[in-house]
Amino acid sequence: MQTNYKRTLITSALPYANGPIHIGHLAGVYVPSDIFTRYLRLKGEEVIHVCGSDEHGVPITLKAKKEGVTPQEVVDRYHELNKKAFADFGIAFDIYSRTSNRVHYETASEFFKTLYDKNIFEEYTTEQFFDPQANQFLADRYITGTCPHCGNERAYGDQCEACGTSLNATDLINPKSAITGNTPQLKETKHWYLPLNKDENFFKEWILENHKEWKTNVYGQCKSWLDLGLQPRAVSRDLDWGVPVPVQGAEGKVLYVWFDAPIGYISATKELTPDWQKFWKDKETRLLHFIGKDNIVFHCIIFPAMLKAEGSYILPENIPANEFLNLENDKISTSRNWAVWLHEYLEDFPNKQDVLRYVLTANAPETKDNDFTWKDFQTRNNSELVGVYGNFINRTVVLTQKYFEGKVPELGELNAQDNEALAEIAKLKTEIERNIETFHFREALKSFMALARVGNKYLAETEPWKLIKTDENKVKTILNVCLQISANLAILSEPFLPFSAKKLQEMLILQNSDWKNSGKTDILPVGHKISEPQLLFAKIEDSEVEAQVNKLLETKKINELQTNTALKAKENIQFDDFQKLDIRTGKIIEAQKLPKTKKLLKLLIDTGIDKRTVVSGIAEYYKPEDIIGQEVSILVNLAPRNIKGIDSQGMILMAQNADGELVFVSPQKSVQTGSVIS
Ligand code: MF3
Ligand code: ZN
Repeated sequence: MQTNYKRTLITSALPYANGPIHIGHLAGVYVPSDIFTRYLRLKGEEVIHVCGSDEHGVPITLKAKKEGVTPQEVVDRYHELNKKAFADFGIAFDIYSRTSNRVHYETASEFFKTLYDKNIFEEYTTEQFFDPQANQFLADRYITGTCPHCGNERAYGDQCEACGTSLNATDLINPKSAITGNTPQLKETKHWYLPLNKDENFFKEWILENHKEWKTNVYGQCKSWLDLGLQPRAVSRDLDWGVPVPVQGAEGKVLYVWFDAPIGYISATKELTPDWQKFWKDKETRLLHFIGKDNIVFHCIIFPAMLKAEGSYILPENIPANEFLNLENDKISTSRNWAVWLHEYLEDFPNKQDVLRYVLTANAPETKDNDFTWKDFQTRNNSELVGVYGNFINRTVVLTQKYFEGKVPELGELNAQDNEALAEIAKLKTEIERNIETFHFREALKSFMALARVGNKYLAETEPWKLIKTDENKVKTILNVCLQISANLAILSEPFLPFSAKKLQEMLILQNSDWKNSGKTDILPVGHKISEPQLLFAKIEDSEVEAQVNKLLETKKINELQTNTALKAKENIQFDDFQKLDIRTGKIIEAQKLPKTKKLLKLLIDTGIDKRTVVSGIAEYYKPEDIIGQEVSILVNLAPRNIKGIDSQGMILMAQNADGELVFVSPQKSVQTGSVIS
């Protein structure tokens, strides 16, 4: 482990600019990297945090095709939207760049050229999948099939997201073109390969021997690939969207998106500062990649292999990858619209960035996939942020205003209870630090909240609002202790909850919020004037989360309608069989609910032949008064059946929606009642 570093370079995975950012992105990558960056900055360390849009690759071109617009239009739209969403949530990038800009094209081309000139690549002409109808080679997400390792039927040509394995398209079982659905043909094409196999021993030593401290999910994935053995990996593609392969004889070929995108970290640093080389080429820099689990192989093996081959770059020191966040027990999915989008969240919960940051950290998928639910969101807000943290701060500030005109009172003699509370400050600060430094952000947040709980408990036990009548001096001491805890919370919360930290710092008129000012018991001097109380957090009502749940239920309905495939046809019958059915057009003339049943209506139907009673199971969908006069189709020669004591003489024909709703089947134009349907 690198201990004596001088500066830190933090990268966060460049999100594809093919859709908006959702809570899964935030929980997995950007909140953790933001906490880490803010923490180092508060400590006064030299640090930069780079990110940007990943604007190449099949995810972009597929989206463009689906919408009938150009890839450039897609990336322009989402680059701006996502850049703003990150800024709105206070994600502390020093730069949010994009891979379609010039400096990136130059950097990526140059990188490829260097490797090419050093004879690193191997050139192979192989047979690759081709879709003749689309007249296109099918790489990466243009092709799907069954993963040969885990059997997932929706694996892509370059990766299986179910088991994380990186694949070559020709490994897929039962491959299908994502454009036309056709089974592809094979066609010869030449590509440049990075011979990862040659680095196998290097990676075994570098990761398996020297980086045993990496998170178990990361180390474990690396180990299983290394156990399988590394293969040469193509780094070019037959596509027309991307950075052109910068050598002769490569017309119509671009760099593989996973070759160019991580170089985007370098381009972004270049764009940020002319002094970029010290972040990438100095051994005293600590390089950290924050990513989601589907990116592990690319950051632990492929990109380091590129950096090592180039020769002048440092390798990452750690890659704290997270697992996935689910939403209400279902996998987050952009294409199924199953997500909470950041820009929509802010419309519904303006100024509640910290609440989401808090919930996503408290429930971060650090060691396993986790679930976000709106109920949990509400509970954590109401009982933890409002009930514990906010409540403690509010009582402290209100009482200080009320009893001491907003001035920090003096500390008198301390009893065991006071000492205990004060001792927790330094202890919990150390715990927060240790946990942040080892990427245990959930635990770090718990330690932070533990300090707020200490304060809350201390107030509840000492009850200064009662003591004020009998022992004002003791109340002075108590509120001094509470104010010192509050000042610590104002500093220690900044990495996690930057918006409310600022508010609290303003409330306390805290001048010095450097990290090293925390941990102390005399941050606020006696006599220091604080400001008027403001609420840090507000209660979230049931109706607010119910609205969110309903929005998701709506999405689920739409998805089910879209995927609901029609039932298989029944066995064939003869025309004679059909002829036996006597179906007529009829009209409902009376309707009433059958008492003591949920679903049944008793209808009187004019069939043209007669007026007859029919019992029908449609009460959940129609009110009796609304269907008088409704035209229906009725099977009139069904043998009468006794339903709940009523002779039902026939059956109304209904069609059923995906969500179960029953709909009348009736003539398109008015016809005479009793017309035969045949
Ligand atoms: N765009 C990729 C994704 O969303 C991440 C790219 S990370 C980088 O999964 F290293 F390539 F930049
Ligand atoms: Zn798989």
